Amino acid sequence: MKRQAVLIPQEEIDRQLAICDQIAAQNAASPAPKLAMVDTYGCQQNEADSEQIRGMLSRMGYAMTEDEAEADVIVINTCAIREHAEMRVLGNVGALSHTKRNKPEQIICLCGCAMQEPHMEEKIRRSYRYVDMVFGPHALYRFPELLQSVLQTRRRVFATPDVDGYIAEGLPVQRQGRLKAWVSIMYGCNNFCTYCVVPHVRGRERSRAPELILQEVRELAEQGYKDITLLGQNVNSYGKDLGLDMNFAGLLRACNAIPGDFQIRFMTSHPRDASQELFETMAACEKVAPQLHLPFQSGSSRVLKAMNRHYDRETYLDEVRRLRELIPDIVLTSDVIVGFPGETQAEFEETLSLIQEVRFDALFTFVFSPRKGTPAAEMDDPMPREQKSANFQRLLEVQNAISAEKHAAYVGQTLQVLVDGVNIQDKHHNLTARTDGGRLVHLNGPEELIGTRQQVNIVRSSTWALFGELANS
Ligand code: SAH
Ligand code: SF4
Ligand code: F3S
Repeated sequence: MKRQAVLIPQEEIDRQLAICDQIAAQNAASPAPKLAMVDTYGCQQNEADSEQIRGMLSRMGYAMTEDEAEADVIVINTCAIREHAEMRVLGNVGALSHTKRNKPEQIICLCGCAMQEPHMEEKIRRSYRYVDMVFGPHALYRFPELLQSVLQTRRRVFATPDVDGYIAEGLPVQRQGRLKAWVSIMYGCNNFCTYCVVPHVRGRERSRAPELILQEVRELAEQGYKDITLLGQNVNSYGKDLGLDMNFAGLLRACNAIPGDFQIRFMTSHPRDASQELFETMAACEKVAPQLHLPFQSGSSRVLKAMNRHYDRETYLDEVRRLRELIPDIVLTSDVIVGFPGETQAEFEETLSLIQEVRFDALFTFVFSPRKGTPAAEMDDPMPREQKSANFQRLLEVQNAISAEKHAAYVGQTLQVLVDGVNIQDKHHNLTARTDGGRLVHLNGPEELIGTRQQVNIVRSSTWALFGELANS
């Protein structure tokens, strides 16, 4: 892909912003304030996209609401990663037929990954006729124009071009948090893991210019953000398309050099591209949090090959060893798929043994879900569902025991945490916090501490969390 073809020209962005301002002028003339609701499913990439959608809506003069009954515009940002995610989209959209009946002028928009799937778009087109707008990830920057078209004509619009994807800089952003922020550093994916829908719906890998990423991080640090997560489907291949002397490790070093009291995290790292340079950079950069999410997917080299992951069991274990040599206290999390087509019982046991060998701090576990258009959906899948479920349960038990043991080992330690929120459900532990490695800590203290770093004595633990007391109280 040519760089010029990837970047949306500034004039086009300006045109979209001018449309925002036109809509804002119309909305300002309305007697009651106009309201919008944005509902987000899926991963952090979708969260980041929704922050741009809110940014655009806000520039159009909409205030945000959580109540679909009163919203003038509803946007549902969908996910397609597993069948369950897709079913949830349809369930949610189905429920909106009632709100629209009570408020017929309401505009219902669906966007995100599931809308980029032809069969889902078709389903909405035919069976959910009260949906006014459908757009995929590639048309996000055109949201103002699409909304104006619906407002003016009341005709349905569909914008799901089958393209390699763009980079749209300069769209407004309305961030959800004051402490934690997402920064997309690249979009799309070139890996085509055989089970995965992401490359089909989010297009090819394209990296944002380093100076724009660094400027965004600098602004966030100046605004007092304490925790900045760099986002991409495979951050380790950042920069390969830029033709500059800048890779992901270089970007981390440049972020680390930005002054301020903040930590840098990133996701997701593909083990194929996780280099020794990356590990050394993580170890050397004090602002880079001691945490790595490194999805392994399977402990069987044969299954990894069938998944098109381009690494094997030994390479993965070796990476973990080298990483822990450099950063012994690294918090390591991962993703795993149980029941990939053709996975044998012996191969599942290899996954279990890898988990026992690595001892992850936490694991995101999934049962294989066939996705239309992916090679794995066509593969023979002889293992019965019940067997997959039983394996999944066993894996959860093994991991939960490991997570509980790892958490128990924190008891008695004094750790630095970032106090990040309130927990209204637990009056004995009214605050939540995160360790540098990202583990959840419950503690008791004044709400003014939110946004500060504190030393905490860990006194108790569970499978999911740590419980602490402020060290200086
Ligand atoms: N880009 C990230 C993954 C994004 S999807 C990476 O490569 O690490 C998040 C996780 O969902 C994946 O790591 C995988 O474990 C899981 N997943 C993706 N497709 C799936 C499918 N078809 N069935 C079950 N789990 C899936
Ligand atoms: Fe999907 Fe693989 Fe790309 Fe991750 S690296 S988004 S699992 S295709
Ligand atoms: Fe889902 Fe799209 Fe993310 S499919 S997991 S929202 S990239």
